[in-house]
Amino acid sequence: MPWRTFSEDARLQRLFRDNFDQLTPENELKWANTEPLPGVFTFDEADQLVSYATAHGKRIRGHTLVWGNQLPKWVRDGHWSRDSLLLFMREHIDREMSRYRGRINEWDVVNEAIAGNGGYEQNVFLRVIGPKYVEYAFRYAHAADPDAKLYYNDMGIGLPGHPATLGVLRMVADLKRKGVPIHGIGIQAHMSTRYHLSQSQVADTMRRVAELGLDVAITEMDVRINSPGTPAQRLEDQRRVYEGVARACRAQPRCTSFTTWGISDKHSWLGQSAVPLAFDSAYRAKPAWPTIVRALRE
Ligand code: G3I
Repeated sequence: MPWRTFSEDARLQRLFRDNFDQLTPENELKWANTEPLPGVFTFDEADQLVSYATAHGKRIRGHTLVWGNQLPKWVRDGHWSRDSLLLFMREHIDREMSRYRGRINEWDVVNEAIAGNGGYEQNVFLRVIGPKYVEYAFRYAHAADPDAKLYYNDMGIGLPGHPATLGVLRMVADLKRKGVPIHGIGIQAHMSTRYHLSQSQVADTMRRVAELGLDVAITEMDVRINSPGTPAQRLEDQRRVYEGVARACRAQPRCTSFTTWGISDKHSWLGQSAVPLAFDSAYRAKPAWPTIVRALRE
């Protein structure tokens, strides 16, 4: 949800403070928000959010530095040479990470670079710089904050053997081989009660990530309810999907965190009717919530 919505809702803040120990800004740290014009940085909302989280002892995941989406028009449609885009990319990463050094210790440096077929997703960085833009982004991020944990975050990774999963693992293994500073992979886990991963599928993919010597995190989980049944059955279906992923994370020593993409159904990016989160629109815990907490604590 937008920071402003959160900052004006005392009940929601309380819900967050009492139940969560980490926060990911949904949009406030994306390029379109933080550098709307070349070299013009607007960190007002991000600053407020980071101060709030820090004041309440919550960790922050920095999301996200380099992504083909939610870019300002000047980046997306610019007439770039390879070197000039690299220069702006480096400055963007440096300014954003340096500002929050010591307060944001984990970043999604590159987001969704791999397409569903396992190849590279089309975007301005790929077109102008080529696939090596991913490597540059991680090197620049490490230079900006050598202590930060650097993640590659993706929507497609999850299903074992799927081209998207294999594509991510291949790219990341290649980065590791080259000595690129990368520390983890974020599995977004946007699912539905009809199409979702089982505990063993998530466990399998997490194991492959761990075998590469990397951490893994569930970074954006939600479970849209789209299966038939009574309201109680549908909530039970949703509870089980959350349970499988939370258990897989808990069982994998290198799984560092579990994040839902929002708090309450009221503000989900999927719209209220998808009811994908673990708290309903009235901020009451749904069956999924105690299950997630238990699974992560066991
Ligand atoms: O800020 C403008 C506002 O000024 C304008 O009035 C309004 C009118 O549409 O749009 C607002 O921007 C929207 C923004 O969310 C903030 O609410 C954008 O249109 C909208 O496209 C944007 O959607 C975000 C989406 O990423 C963009 O791709 C979602 O909130 C956000 O939840 C979603 O998050 C992504 C992750 O970053 C990466 N993984 C997938 C995930 C879900 O798509």
